[in-house]
Amino acid sequence: MAESTINSGTFGPKIIVALDFPSADAALHLAHALDPSQCRVKVGKELFTRAGPVLVEQLQQLGFDVFLDLKYHDIPNTTAQACRAAAELGVWMVNVHALGGRRMMEAACEAIDKTAHRPLLIAVTVLTSLDADELHEVGLSGNPEDNVLRLACLAETAGLDGVVCSPREVAALRETVANDFQLVTPGVRPAGVAVGDQKRITTPEDAICLGASYLVIGRPITQAENPPAALAEINAAIDIERIR
Ligand code: C5P
Repeated sequence: MAESTINSGTFGPKIIVALDFPSADAALHLAHALDPSQCRVKVGKELFTRAGPVLVEQLQQLGFDVFLDLKYHDIPNTTAQACRAAAELGVWMVNVHALGGRRMMEAACEAIDKTAHRPLLIAVTVLTSLDADELHEVGLSGNPEDNVLRLACLAETAGLDGVVCSPREVAALRETVANDFQLVTPGVRPAGVAVGDQKRITTPEDAICLGASYLVIGRPITQAENPPAALAEINAAIDIERIR
């Protein structure tokens, strides 16, 4: 793999552990076992709806950077105010749907630019659960990959910091977007670990070599017998000095 594709411009842990738990207690139990110098954490819709901003604050007090994965998609003013609220909560990363359009994304950028701790603002392009037929059904022509590239470029020119994408899309995106545009990839599985319901997966080291900036990993860590050991193994596998 070419050395130049490895995105070494990011600082701190590259693994974002998806806290896909139904309660604050379960999420905090795992968080207490993990070291914030080794990973960041993601709070999604289920956990946030159940546990709210208080849990985000508790995770931050434990030292974790939080990716608030609520995928805002609304009129520009409403999305901007939601992003500002996330920034004021102190989160490290927050996301919106690129399909909300340029004005929505620009408004979101402008809203967080004014905050004391500006989070990274990233876009969801095309939900990976949608196939070509479903895209056509909602009026999007072309194949999913074309739509991902077009929406990623739109997000970049609207001022966003990156996109969420499948590891299979990373190589094409790296040829299109700036080097410091963050590519955040779920669908990552260490060799030999259960694939679960993920379909188009790569290993953590391949995703990093292809140019991913951050890897979102849930069950291979959260369901492991020893989550800190599973995390340490993945961190060792993606050590840039080792894989170069
Ligand atoms: O357990 P697993 O590693 O599959 O978890 C992946 C996480 O990334 C989950 O929180 C899931 O919702 C999220 N995600 C995904 N695929 C996408 C977008 C987000 O798996 N295309």
